Amino acid sequence: MNAQSPIGFSYDPYARDVLENPLPYYRELLENHPGYYVDKYDMFVFTRFQDIIDVAGVTDDNTFVGSESTLPMPAAITHKNDGPPPFVSTNPMSPGIMLPSPEYEEMRLAHIKPLRPKAVAAIQDMVRDLVLARFQELLPRGKFEMMGEFCGLVSAAVTCHLFGIPRSEAQSVLDAVNALAVYSDDKVGVDTPGMYDQLKAHIIPAVERRRKAGADGEVPMVDGLINHRVKSDGRALTDDEIADQLVCSFVAATETPPKPTSQGLWTLWKNPDQLAEVRKDLDTNIPIVTEEILRLCITNQFAIRTAHKDVSVAGVDIKAGQRVLLGIYAGLRDPREFDDPEKFIWNRKINRVLTFGYGQHHCIGNNLARMQVRTMLREFLEHVQDFEFAMDEAVHAASYFHWGWIKLPVVINNYSI
Ligand code: HEM
Repeated sequence: MNAQSPIGFSYDPYARDVLENPLPYYRELLENHPGYYVDKYDMFVFTRFQDIIDVAGVTDDNTFVGSESTLPMPAAITHKNDGPPPFVSTNPMSPGIMLPSPEYEEMRLAHIKPLRPKAVAAIQDMVRDLVLARFQELLPRGKFEMMGEFCGLVSAAVTCHLFGIPRSEAQSVLDAVNALAVYSDDKVGVDTPGMYDQLKAHIIPAVERRRKAGADGEVPMVDGLINHRVKSDGRALTDDEIADQLVCSFVAATETPPKPTSQGLWTLWKNPDQLAEVRKDLDTNIPIVTEEILRLCITNQFAIRTAHKDVSVAGVDIKAGQRVLLGIYAGLRDPREFDDPEKFIWNRKINRVLTFGYGQHHCIGNNLARMQVRTMLREFLEHVQDFEFAMDEAVHAASYFHWGWIKLPVVINNYSI
């Protein structure tokens, strides 16, 4: 925070010192600056829990849309829109996160099937087996990196399952996603457009394979889009359009669940009294502690929308063309919603969360994410009786995409398998 704040307080979500540590800025925004305006991006920043609910809850008739991406690079939003920008193309169909209604919902429903609660429950044993297979190799080694060698490979194998990609490609899927979902100083941001171009190279062969196999519903994430006919004109989607709908899930399914899982275990290690409590009854306590971990140990920071209509919400008058930032990470630390919000309390009573966003863009993978985090936590605490983290080798990310540990080497002192 620069010398003259808080009097001269200023917040730029993409500024270096915010990337390094956004927490002091979030505290100041939560305390004194609801609906904070950032002239550089013509954007209102919402960090208070209820304000985020109110803004993200405006879901009717395309008031707020991801037209300029929900996670744009800073350079993409330094211009002021003169009124509502044009909606993105729906023929060809643009990436799902940017689409207006009704196409946004149409594309979402066409690939949601494997992420519904029943479908997720049906692959829980598969996830558990993936975890135990990793343990067979890793635990006897006595030391490994939590995200790159354990959680990340489990999640990447789940991504392969969802996309009909051979499990043998899990490592290259993980490497590709991790290489792109990072802050690049050269590009001054997380290169989301580049992420789409490069990851489609992994997804399009999967679509081609499913077409050849007849898209019989065996791989609903892809088959659903292959068999979909666009409501407005009855046409089928091309492989490229299908891949554009799937990149977000491909990235999120691979690199997101490993982060709260690893940060959650690190936080429990830092709170041995709470870890001991959790261990007393894993079946009962894992679902409980997972909610606090999903509140305090996720690394996602915010999401952005562009207004396509004038609207007054959360005490702010927003003009068409202006932008809003939904400060999810900050909202999960709002003292109006959570007592002692920055304190980890394993069995905290949690009525509602913003972990998976809110409203139209609410996380399509929340059921799968919860199941994966619970399963990895449970199996780790079941099979590892004593562990510690080699923090001198740990790496913390400075990014507006993910702020948190991206490398956490763990030492296994005592295990059973
Ligand atoms: C702990 C893990 C996860 C967290 C914390 C998380 C968080 C989020 C959040 C906060 C949003 C809302 C973004 C916005 O409002 O713009 C979101 C959307 C989304 N998530 Fe997740 N997610 C997780 C796991 C997953 C998984 C496993 C998948 C895929 C299978 C997934 C796929 C998506 C997709 C497709 C969207 C919609 C994006 C949009 O429509 O703009 N996520 N997620």
